[in-house]
Amino acid sequence: MDAAKVPSAPHRKEPPETMSTAETGHRVVVRELSETPLAGLDTSIDLVPMAPPDRAEVGPREVVVAIRSAAVGWVDLLMTSGQYQHLPTPPYTPGLEYAGVVEYAGSEAADTVRVGDRVLVDGFTAGPRSVGAYRAQGGFASWAVVPVEALHAVPGTLTLDQASILLGSYETAYHCLVARGRLRAGETVLVHGASGSVGLAAVHVAKLLGATVIATGRSAAKLAVVKAEGADHVVDIGPREGETGGVRRFRDEVKAVTDGRGVDVVYDGVGGEVSLESLRCVAFGARILVVGWASTPLVAKGRGERGAPNANQLPTNLVMMKGLDVLGCPTVISSLMDPTLRPPRLAQVLAWAAEGKIAPHVSHTFALADFRAAMRAKWAGDVIGGCVLHGTERDDAHRRQREEPAASAARSIGDRQRLDPPSTTRGSSAGFARDAGELGVRWPRAASMKALASSGERSSGSKTTWR
Ligand SMILES: NC(=O)c1ccc[n+]([C@@H]2O[C@H](COP(=O)([O-])OP(=O)(O)OC[C@H]3O[C@@H](n4cnc5c(N)ncnc54)[C@H](OP(=O)(O)O)[C@@H]3O)[C@@H](O)[C@H]2O)c1
Repeated sequence: MDAAKVPSAPHRKEPPETMSTAETGHRVVVRELSETPLAGLDTSIDLVPMAPPDRAEVGPREVVVAIRSAAVGWVDLLMTSGQYQHLPTPPYTPGLEYAGVVEYAGSEAADTVRVGDRVLVDGFTAGPRSVGAYRAQGGFASWAVVPVEALHAVPGTLTLDQASILLGSYETAYHCLVARGRLRAGETVLVHGASGSVGLAAVHVAKLLGATVIATGRSAAKLAVVKAEGADHVVDIGPREGETGGVRRFRDEVKAVTDGRGVDVVYDGVGGEVSLESLRCVAFGARILVVGWASTPLVAKGRGERGAPNANQLPTNLVMMKGLDVLGCPTVISSLMDPTLRPPRLAQVLAWAAEGKIAPHVSHTFALADFRAAMRAKWAGDVIGGCVLHGTERDDAHRRQREEPAASAARSIGDRQRLDPPSTTRGSSAGFARDAGELGVRWPRAASMKALASSGERSSGSKTTWR
């Protein structure tokens, strides 16, 4: 869909006229956590002018990235109200994942990247889902200053839009289907929310693994795209004509497609009644992958408070009588708990992208100034695959130049940069402390802070350096 068709939000703020548009950019700032994600768009999230980073303050291992494409993720929305498990500390800039061009590299970083390199920024190391010193610097901005360890070369021929949605979606699909689900060639997987970011990625990954994919969704138009993207069968579970809300039963259709046997694996990013119905169309011993609960997102109270009643419940009689394995699949938390999980996953996702085997689908793009419309579109479920924010108008004027394959630039970083993932055991944050506390994890704060200091990173804690 053309973003131009989406009406601009009435609350959009423009930069003061005194600022030079040639020399300034913008960033989105979440001033405080709101009651709900949509409420926050009206009350506590602003677009503010942003000066270019002062190069004199860029550390030797830091890099200034001119942000061109930032994914607008479901998690970005939940985070603004503190209803995601990882709590950012306001003020912060949303945008877990983003891609752009290296604009400046510190003295040591210049050994690894060059000005003009097309890079994607790893959300484990920088941005609101990271746990170190760079978590306030998300992608809804014109620039970010990040440690060089956060950068990956944009693989293969991916555009920057595609690169900006690569890791979150495909690492999730890989973690769920491979590490947790042990999906094998010849098996059948039922993918719910298949038109969404992690759903469509699961369709792609499951097909690469040689599985048969049955994809569900509530819109025939979106399911047509999912089918074109590789799903073997699609099942429309949207309400029938005349009905409002809810989903229709799908067990008979799924049973029919599997000759009455049921599926081997369920990839469930939707939750609620979809989860319940799923248990009625699985084979004995099936693996149920709990990926998310897009249909019941507000299981925590707003403003970062916990304690809302759990919206999702499973019938233990079906779990027992069908011998099911119910597997929770929190990708980031699992990777922090077990640092061996991520390296093979990250390497595989980047390799698949480099080989052209996965190409993320982006249905919506918006200018940064229209971040509210972008976030509303994502929350409303208008998006298929990815929703991406573009930089400032100044940036857009140069988009064609930036978006050319730039094979030489990609090679320049690709030749020199290790594909090793950045360390996931660095830094400390209130958000991680909360995750870790719930899980009984002890965070090696002193050691990690020493590592941060020796790597030239900015100090963490409550003080945020806005750039
Ligand atoms: N496990 C992990 O590590 C991990 C990582 C990232 C995200 N997640 C979670 O995964 C879930 C999906 O994330 P996403 O980024 O893919 O979101 P998304 O892009 O918005 O996709 C969610 C999809 O779910 C479907 N859906 C939404 N509400 C529904 C309802 N009431 N009933 C039935 N279907 C509904 C929609 O498809 P249709 O409109 O076609 O029905 C939508 O496309 C979220 O809960 C998110 O928090 C988990």
